[in-house]
Parts: sequence; structure tokens; C-alpha cells
Amino acid sequence: MLAPLEDTSDNALRELCYNHGADQTFTEMTRLAGLVRKNKSTQRKISILNEIPTQIQLSAKNEEDLKKFLDAYEPPKGFNGINFNIGCPSPHLIRKGLGCALIKRVSKVKRMVELVKEKGYSCTIKMRLGLNEYEKRKKAYLNIIKEVDADYFIIHARHGAEHYEKPADYEALKECVATGKNIIANGDIDIKEKVEYLKKIGCKGVMIGRAAVSNPNIFNELKQEKSEIDEIQTDYEKLKEEYEELAKKYFEANNKNTKYQDNVLKRLGQKQISLNELNIQG
Ligand SMILES: Cc1cc2nc3c(=O)[nH]c(=O)nc-3n(C[C@H](O)[C@H](O)[C@H](O)COP(=O)(O)O)c2cc1C
Repeated sequence: MLAPLEDTSDNALRELCYNHGADQTFTEMTRLAGLVRKNKSTQRKISILNEIPTQIQLSAKNEEDLKKFLDAYEPPKGFNGINFNIGCPSPHLIRKGLGCALIKRVSKVKRMVELVKEKGYSCTIKMRLGLNEYEKRKKAYLNIIKEVDADYFIIHARHGAEHYEKPADYEALKECVATGKNIIANGDIDIKEKVEYLKKIGCKGVMIGRAAVSNPNIFNELKQEKSEIDEIQTDYEKLKEEYEELAKKYFEANNKNTKYQDNVLKRLGQKQISLNELNIQG
């Protein structure tokens, strides 16, 4: 899966990654409050203009607003569900009771997921391992996984006070898997060994963010056998050309805003960013 990436995962990047092996994509996080106010630039963030499997990622906590949005929403062809972001570590969102602050709000999240499912849509959650180290130690994240009836839970294996320096904690995913729910792993995934390990511990899939912007063909590469991967010579110039074509196609739809293009093109083909050493046990 291609991760939701603010100012980055627009229709063009989603289509490029889908063409190169991503099975599922997500819009960037969008505030429900802005959608309900019918703010044009907010609405643009959730536009799905192709038939690529795409979930809309919402930052939401108000059930009335959610009902209003769902009642008015006319799903386009590519739409295949709603994803709630309960993992964003931005202090601005946390102060409003959104992002990571929602990880302990089990009944609220449960109800929001029910509202989406009542509409017949798939509903998924993207989260971290708690707001901070303390919440992670208390394992509050397991309550939400156990209690909420989401189709799958994407776990960015860090807590909300962690940046990217320390590697993602894949060990914590084992207990998430032990709940019996569908767990999708996220954080620092860039090589086949990590995917194989995550599969071995029972994760149902992986989500890739930064490494996919550097190399949108990573999805195809990681689906190959290990021996075949070593032989792949990714053609970054061709990927750039393909991306530029798609960016042109969606330029008007992005309100002629080049920020998505700029963000993708400055990373595409770059040597990958954090890409920590493999830090897993057996
Ligand atoms: C530029 C950027 C923008 C992001 N925007 C979002 C977002 O809108 N919604 C979200 O859930 N996560 C967002 N994230 C987090 C990623 O989806 C992902 O969880 C994180 O980068 C870890 O995955 P990775 O190591 O594969 O990049 C963003 C990350 C980056 C680097």
C-alpha cells in the first residue's frame, strides 16, 4: 500500500505507484471540519479522479459532522473506503483532540467506524503505538485494535513523540497481530527482508511512504523473489517522465498548484532517506 502523504500523495503519485505494483492507495489526511464547511481546497484533497483503489483519509472526531459528510458524499469509481487517521503526531492536531490523541478514545473511534460501515463502506484505521512513551508502555493501542471493528489497522510502529531517527518497533506489532485483527505494518519498510519478517510475524500487508516517493517502483520490486530483486535496475529517468505526464494530467485538478509535483520530484530517484538497518529479532 502507498501511504497517505501530505502535499504528496495526490492522484498523480497514486496512479504512478499503482502502475508499479501498489495495491491500495490513500489520499493525504484531510480535516473533516473543512469538508463539512465545503472548503474548496479541502475538498480538492479528497478528489479521486481515476479508478485506482483509494481510501479517503480523514482526521475526524465529530460524529454529527461525519454523518453530514457521509450523507452528502457521492463516491467516485476509485473510492474504496474511509481511513481514519488516529496517528498524526502534530501538536496542533493533538491539542484539538485529533491525531494521536484519539488512540485512547476507544468508544468514539468505535462509533465513527460504525457510522462509516452503516453506509456500506470499508473502514480502516491508521495509528501509532500511543501518544507517547508512557501510552506505548501502557499498550493503550491494543484496546482500540481489540474493540473497534475496522477492516484493518495500519500501524506505524512508533509512538507519537518519536521522529524518524529511531527505527520503527516491529516487535510491538506481534501483540497487535495476536489480537486476531488484520494488521498492516508501516514504518521504514524498504527492503524484502523486512517484508518477509513482517509477513512471518503475521502482518497482512505493508504500507510504504518515503521509500515509495524515492522509488515508486518499490512495490513491484518487493513483490519479486529475493534473487530477482538483485537484478532489477530501476530506471529513475523513466519513472520521472511517467510521473511528469501524470502530474500534467492532474494539474488543473490540483488547481494548478505545483506543490505536489515539487515535493515528489525533489525526492524521486534520490538515495533513500532514513532507511535504517534491519533491526528485527529472529
Ligand atoms: C511528507 C510526509 C507526509 C505525511 N503525511 C501523512 C498523512 O497525510 N497522513 C498520514 O496518516 N501519515 C502521513 N505521513 C506518515 C506516513 O504515512 C508514514 O506513516 C510514515 O512516513 C512512516 O512510513 P515510511 O517509513 O514508509 O515513510 C506523512 C509522512 C511524510 C514523510
